[in-house]
Amino acid sequence: LSDRLLITGATGFVGRLLVSRLRAAHPDREIVALVRDLGRASFLASDGVRLVTGDIGRPNMGVPVNEYQALAASVTQIVHCAGDVNFGATLPVSRAANVFGTQQVVNFARACPRLNRVAHLSSISIHGTRVGPLAEEPSPAGHRFVNSYQQSKHEAEWLVFRAMREIPAEIFRISMIGADTPSGEVSQFNYVHHLIRYLPNSPLPVMPGDPATCVDLVPADWAVSALAFLFDRRFSAGAVRNICAGLRCSLPFGDALRIAGLVMERQFNTPVRFPRLVPAAEFDSMLAETGDWRIKEAAAILGPHVNLLAVRQSFSNERTLDELDGSGLVLPALASWFPRMIEYCLRSNWGGGGSWSMIEAADSCAAPGSR
Ligand SMILES: NC(=O)c1ccc[n+]([C@@H]2O[C@H](COP(=O)([O-])OP(=O)(O)OC[C@H]3O[C@@H](n4cnc5c(N)ncnc54)[C@H](OP(=O)(O)O)[C@@H]3O)[C@@H](O)[C@H]2O)c1
Repeated sequence: LSDRLLITGATGFVGRLLVSRLRAAHPDREIVALVRDLGRASFLASDGVRLVTGDIGRPNMGVPVNEYQALAASVTQIVHCAGDVNFGATLPVSRAANVFGTQQVVNFARACPRLNRVAHLSSISIHGTRVGPLAEEPSPAGHRFVNSYQQSKHEAEWLVFRAMREIPAEIFRISMIGADTPSGEVSQFNYVHHLIRYLPNSPLPVMPGDPATCVDLVPADWAVSALAFLFDRRFSAGAVRNICAGLRCSLPFGDALRIAGLVMERQFNTPVRFPRLVPAAEFDSMLAETGDWRIKEAAAILGPHVNLLAVRQSFSNERTLDELDGSGLVLPALASWFPRMIEYCLRSNWGGGGSWSMIEAADSCAAPGSR
């Protein structure tokens, strides 16, 4: 009997790439996607993916009982990719998709008698402000998070760890995706891209930052291909894998700023100044003492997430890289594609069209209430 794979989150950025890798690897495997909106998922149906309407934020994934039981009887593999990736969401909202939703997927997995593997997609950011190097191991509780995304994904991992006694699950922690490919094109802009947008010549004299902390970014094509290969060819129930750049292929924060500055200066022929990197406590007291609303506005735009950059973190990926041996996949060093990613951000005006100007970016911090 061939495999039948249920995937959640197939309409999302990672999920749609993953479906195409999983299909290419095993064309005979049936793929069923749990989707909230059939219209948004029509591209999957035309690609031969069977669609089931559901919502992981509802009990039993929002699937009617008869359909749920039939699905459970036939599914042999699960990839849980759905999640709420909004860094600005409140904790209850993040938990609804990421914790309650994961619980529904775990419950479903328990009901599948033919199950041979489950992949839970997580994030290296579950470590919050824990100081690194951070291993491919469970992350104990007891550290601070800078946003509810991190906290809810950490809680979701623990739901999966606890269920590992009953279901064959593996956790895949993906690093932040910086570009689609090493060509530098970006379809999903995230916090790192927006930092690069707002920091140059910002009113902030200083910002929380450790020049030696690792900026760990990966291109989507490498990350998703690695994930599909590990799932199909190196699956190991109970394991945790960091699909990340690691110490060798990431960039120290200080170097990343320097490279960004050089790319921008070349483009605009004007000097670029970044805020000086200081410990988080020094930044907080500067903010408490300043009467300059432009500085307060700029700090509000960067948000609490910026504190992560003041923590010295790096992520281990030795076991993942060992297991990718034989896949033909080569992890590109961030230094080799980071300049192209910045050029793309500038060229596309962060996906917004028109052209970006450093002066306008700094001015966007100049009107109270602007975002
Ligand atoms: N992108 C990254 O850089 C990155 C890095 C590390 C880890 N990850 C992890 O990778 C996974 C996918 O991320 P992504 O970047 O692809 O996010 P995304 O583009 O925002 O996609 C999220 C997916 O989850 C689905 N979803 C959300 N809430 C749902 C619900 N209640 N019921 C059913 N489906 C729901 C969405 O469906 P709709 O189409 O209906 O909205 C969409 O398919 C997440 O678990 C995330 O934590 C991503």
